[in-house]
Amino acid sequence: MILPQIFILGVIAAVGKALNVDYKAEADKAFGELVPSTNQTAINQLVHELREVSINDSRCQACLNRLAVGKRWAHENPGVIPVAWPQWCVEYNAGSPDSCTRNFARTTVDKNAEGSNFVDMLTLIDPHGYDGQLYCQYLEESSCPKPTTPNVSLSHLWPPKQAKHYVAPEPGNETFNVLHISDFHVELDYTVGAESNCSATMCCTPHSQGKGGGGYLYKNHWNSFYKDAHYDKEFTYVKGAYYDVFQNSSISAPAPVFGHYRCDAPEILVNSSINSVVDYAKKNKLNFEFAMFTGDLIDHDEQRWMDFDKSLASEEAGFRDLKSRLGDIPVYSTLGNHDSYPYGEIAQEGYGFSNKYTWNNDLMADMWKDFGWINETTSQFVRTHYTGFAVDTKVGLRIVSLNSNCYYRKNHYAFWNATDPDGFGMWSFLINELVDAEAKGQRVWIMTHIPPIVDGLPLPSKIFYEIIERFSPYTIAGVFFGHTHLDQFNILYAGNNTKTIENVINHAWISQAVTPWFNNNPSWRYYEIDKDTFSVMNAYNYYAKLNETFDNHGNEPHWLYEYSCRDGYGIHWPKTSPLNGTYWHLVSEKIKDSVQYRQLYENYATRFSPYVPDCSQEGKCENDYCTLTSFQVDDYDNCVSRVHS
Ligand SMILES: *[C@@H]1O[C@H](CO)[C@@H](O)[C@H](O)[C@H]1NC(C)=O
Ligand SMILES: *[C@@H]1O[C@H](CO)[C@@H](O)[C@H](O)[C@H]1NC(C)=O
Ligand SMILES: *[C@@H]1O[C@H](CO)[C@@H](O)[C@H](O)[C@H]1NC(C)=O
Ligand SMILES: *[C@@H]1O[C@H](CO)[C@@H](O)[C@H](O)[C@H]1NC(C)=O
Ligand SMILES: *[C@@H]1O[C@H](CO)[C@@H](O)[C@H](O)[C@H]1NC(C)=O
Ligand SMILES: *[C@@H]1O[C@H](CO)[C@@H](O)[C@H](O)[C@H]1NC(C)=O
Ligand SMILES: *[C@@H]1O[C@H](CO)[C@@H](O)[C@H](O)[C@H]1NC(C)=O
Ligand SMILES: *[C@@H]1O[C@H](CO)[C@@H](O)[C@H](O)[C@H]1NC(C)=O
Ligand SMILES: *[C@@H]1O[C@H](CO)[C@@H](O)[C@H](O)[C@H]1NC(C)=O
Ligand SMILES: *[C@@H]1O[C@H](CO)[C@@H](O)[C@H](O)[C@H]1NC(C)=O
Ligand SMILES: *[C@@H]1O[C@H](CO)[C@@H](O)[C@H](O)[C@H]1NC(C)=O
Ligand SMILES: *[C@@H]1O[C@H](CO)[C@@H](O)[C@H](O)[C@H]1NC(C)=O
Repeated sequence: MILPQIFILGVIAAVGKALNVDYKAEADKAFGELVPSTNQTAINQLVHELREVSINDSRCQACLNRLAVGKRWAHENPGVIPVAWPQWCVEYNAGSPDSCTRNFARTTVDKNAEGSNFVDMLTLIDPHGYDGQLYCQYLEESSCPKPTTPNVSLSHLWPPKQAKHYVAPEPGNETFNVLHISDFHVELDYTVGAESNCSATMCCTPHSQGKGGGGYLYKNHWNSFYKDAHYDKEFTYVKGAYYDVFQNSSISAPAPVFGHYRCDAPEILVNSSINSVVDYAKKNKLNFEFAMFTGDLIDHDEQRWMDFDKSLASEEAGFRDLKSRLGDIPVYSTLGNHDSYPYGEIAQEGYGFSNKYTWNNDLMADMWKDFGWINETTSQFVRTHYTGFAVDTKVGLRIVSLNSNCYYRKNHYAFWNATDPDGFGMWSFLINELVDAEAKGQRVWIMTHIPPIVDGLPLPSKIFYEIIERFSPYTIAGVFFGHTHLDQFNILYAGNNTKTIENVINHAWISQAVTPWFNNNPSWRYYEIDKDTFSVMNAYNYYAKLNETFDNHGNEPHWLYEYSCRDGYGIHWPKTSPLNGTYWHLVSEKIKDSVQYRQLYENYATRFSPYVPDCSQEGKCENDYCTLTSFQVDDYDNCVSRVHS
């Protein structure tokens, strides 16, 4: 398919110069290395073996047995696996036909499946040790219990912590501003008038299937149906002609122009959100020194609606929209779990499989350089080491951006030699940056997509924790995540996660999302940053009430000030102190102790969504405190199991 590629190159050329790499050809070549077998005898033989080793054992043992069988085939005849395994999966009822294909069929640029990654994983996994247990817990529906996290460490990579490293520098009295925007999840298939009350994962597209996921209460006076609405080159809103969706009686709740709570963001909502940042800044004579984007440009559609072209086009659209509006403001980014093809994957650099992902490194290296966000040296670094890169900003702060797929529970490559504390080399990269910065008295922000307690693997979360503990509070001035779509934070405590004020080490900021999926209002924030120390002095949150765009005749959303983190919880906190982990500890104590504060937190988390949970109801909001006060997966799991026991 040549056409979409040309279209995509044209889009980029509109902003910067045309790029020369054929990203799709690069991916196609890498995925082509696994040739599917046509040897029916061999295919039948593997299906038979999988059946045999699954019969008489426990679920856990059967899962481990299959990994051992798979490993042998991966070495002897890998092309049989993506043909036989889906067949076995369907016959044995190990998943829906859809999930059997998605998990085990061969990946191509036209067919989004994870079978090729599964084969790669099998070549190196140890089915009989920690790897196998981990896989069967996280990637095979808890077939095995969670194995005990190995007590390994990377502490040999840093010098001892000195007395001065236990003290954070004192903020000065001048600040600058930084934009934090996250999780666009642009839905390129969004269609005004399509079903928003569907039973599939994602509504508002022509392929959204089923009826009745419980749409936002549909009223006959919904009237925001403008199919051709868009922002033009001057960023002026052009509404176009009214589109009479009511002609179509088969749709129960037609999708309105700016988006819906069951749907990912139409591009017009992404544009509106970035416009609102620029308008707000102009009106208030505010400058942003730089912006952070913490990942996820691609939508949540079922995987069968995803292919290489759509992945590429979504990544390009999101970054292009940022560039076209933010102009000279540099945007430092990280890719999210969705920003990969196939979904969720990233390979280590040293094992022979990373060529499946170089197209993405190349794209980012080209685009970010072209947009003037990173220089040539950093661009070359990004091209070869996408697991992380660092920039020294003009103001003197160092930003380290990491790829959280390295610790993502759905990344197949994270399941081999999983007792290795640094299989991807990402943590030693981070540690080197921190050791270097510490020696220079420079402060550092870390940005990545996934908060480890949400979808991270246990060991990497422990290593991440240990690194932050070592370099706080002297060197690490901020940690920033996206992914949850909720306005949240995670506190790190010393003393085996004993949640006292003395034990606070640091905390991470988790940004809200632009996409309304699932049940949230679109939102963004900016930080007020101390010029001397790069500590965060305040964060200001903005949102749009999406439901009010359903019946406003297709007019633009009103973007509103929501709250500031310094004032939002009524905490008495010195004006001269940053909003550090101790501040958030005080907030978390209120949330623990009072249903009113839990409700307030949930209101902010979802930006006063019509779907905000009612915390006064039994069982609602009960994990909030554990979420906000845990950083390691094991700590979170222990905390939650105490809540439920
Ligand atoms: C097909 O597979 C079977 C079983 O693995 C093997 O014995 C046979 O040689 C293969 N046939 C060909 C043509 O490769
Ligand atoms: C499973 O157990 C049954 C009954 O003990 C036995 O007859 C059968 O051979 C076993 N099958 C396998 C594959 O071990
Ligand atoms: C983990 O290892 C360290 C260093 O060897 C040791 O001090 C610590 O007690 C161990 N922790 C556990 C829970 O075994
Ligand atoms: C800010 O701090 C500097 C140096 O400590 C001091 O000279 C100045 O007066 C302060 N400015 C304000 C507005 O407080
Ligand atoms: C959504 O669809 C279900 C099933 O058709 C229907 O019962 C319900 O009324 C619909 N909801 C809305 C808001 O249209
Ligand atoms: C969003 O903005 C980009 C960049 O200005 C533009 O190319 C695109 O057409 C816009 N899309 C919509 C739907 O507004
Ligand atoms: C009405 O919507 C259905 C999808 O539910 C679609 O198949 C059909 O083409 C639509 N009809 C018209 C006239 O747009
Ligand atoms: C490019 O950026 C990197 C990281 O911020 C910096 O270390 C390097 O000095 C810059 N190179 C040039 C030529 O400006
Ligand atoms: C597995 O990890 C260990 C460190 O835990 C390392 O020494 C070893 O080389 C790794 N094995 C492979 C195959 O990479
Ligand atoms: C840490 O807490 C966990 C869970 O409460 C407990 O199992 C473990 O023994 C504790 N470890 C230490 C070193 O206190
Ligand atoms: C946060 O700031 C306060 C006031 O400056 C200080 O007492 C506290 O130790 C700091 N907490 C952390 C975790 O750095
Ligand atoms: C939108 O939702 C909010 C929160 O539930 C509610 O207060 C408001 O009345 C709703 N507006 C419309 C137009 O439905």
